[in-house]
Amino acid sequence: MATTNFPVLQNDRILKVIKGEKPDKLPVWIMRQAGRFLPEFREFRKQHSFFEICQTPQLACEVTLMPIKRFGLDAAIIFSDILVIPQALGVVVEMRPEVGPVIPKPLTLDSIKDLNEEGAVDRLTYVGEAIRLTRRELNGKVPLFGFSGAPWTLFGYMVEGGGSKTMSKAKKWLYKNPNESNSVLNILTNVIIDYLVMQAEYGAQILQVFESSAEYLNKDLFNKFALPHLERICNQVKTKLKEKNLDVPLVLFAKGSHFSLTEQSELNYDVLGIDWTVDPKVARLLTKDKVLQGNLDPCALYAPKEEIERLVGEMAKGFGTSKYIVNLGHGIYPDMEIEHVEAFIEAVHKIKV
Ligand code: CP3
Repeated sequence: MATTNFPVLQNDRILKVIKGEKPDKLPVWIMRQAGRFLPEFREFRKQHSFFEICQTPQLACEVTLMPIKRFGLDAAIIFSDILVIPQALGVVVEMRPEVGPVIPKPLTLDSIKDLNEEGAVDRLTYVGEAIRLTRRELNGKVPLFGFSGAPWTLFGYMVEGGGSKTMSKAKKWLYKNPNESNSVLNILTNVIIDYLVMQAEYGAQILQVFESSAEYLNKDLFNKFALPHLERICNQVKTKLKEKNLDVPLVLFAKGSHFSLTEQSELNYDVLGIDWTVDPKVARLLTKDKVLQGNLDPCALYAPKEEIERLVGEMAKGFGTSKYIVNLGHGIYPDMEIEHVEAFIEAVHKIKV
């Protein structure tokens, strides 16, 4: 699992910002950049199923590189999904066309005991292999993100059996069965910690934790069922990375968690992702001196190009140009036009730092 002997990193804008240094230009990458808005990805998907791509390092590498070949992005993110963790615990996850992820047998109080934590991270080695290959193929062009879903978000999918408009089944567990909920959240947290460390060992240069379903929680539930696990993930991953002499920063993106940004800023994450609903100036006020990442409304990319440039300028004014990584405030939509993505990246790189 040697992490040495990788090509020297040429574009270190993001890592510079995280270290508190001034980059030559504001760095930018896009959540879900390796996905369905790319015509070459849609073509690729005709030949390969979603999880086949995830599980075959060669294929995952190829897709990860697609947006990097097209755009002047400042990072790559490994092609995978947050739901590979439930899979590694023995839960069946299907990716259905036009529907998204489906878990045919949602978690029940009775099936908690069947979650197979033992060796779960070893069943995710294919992600490590994909990272190692991609890191080599990137040839130092930009740094490579690894990632994981966060416990509450994964718990939500497992209990609901897929996506949900309300997460009411999963929230029912939190209110009605808090102890059982916490035992599942703890199992997920254990696996996530080992999974993130494994990705760093295989060559991930930044790690992002996606708590995408934070928006369904209120402050009280978030403080009880999300924040303590996010804290343990951060602290234990940092300790383990230190023991292995790895210096890999951690990003937390808890979508819709405006009510807890101050609490998140007190955790040891290096970067906080901000979703598109939060005013950048308010995000700054709530998070002291954290590096922030975000937060253009993904739908803003539907606007004419001049308007995209204006909106990017306003956003950067709000965040300020130091301690700032540009991104959307959630994943890019599948029907986004390539030229509008180009306009977004160009607008960012035009900003004086
Ligand atoms: O960011 C990237 O480009 C890397 C790859 C990536 C995917 N999923 C590929 C994907 C990442 C980082 C994810 C994370 C993910 N997956 C999240 C967290 C981020 C977020 O958007 O909140 C979540 C909630 C999921 C679960 C998931 N996977 C959903 C809800 C869906 C269906 C809807 C959708 O957005 O596509 C997926 C499928 C998925 N994951 C696709 C891709 C490219 C499309 C599937 C296909 O090709 O048919």
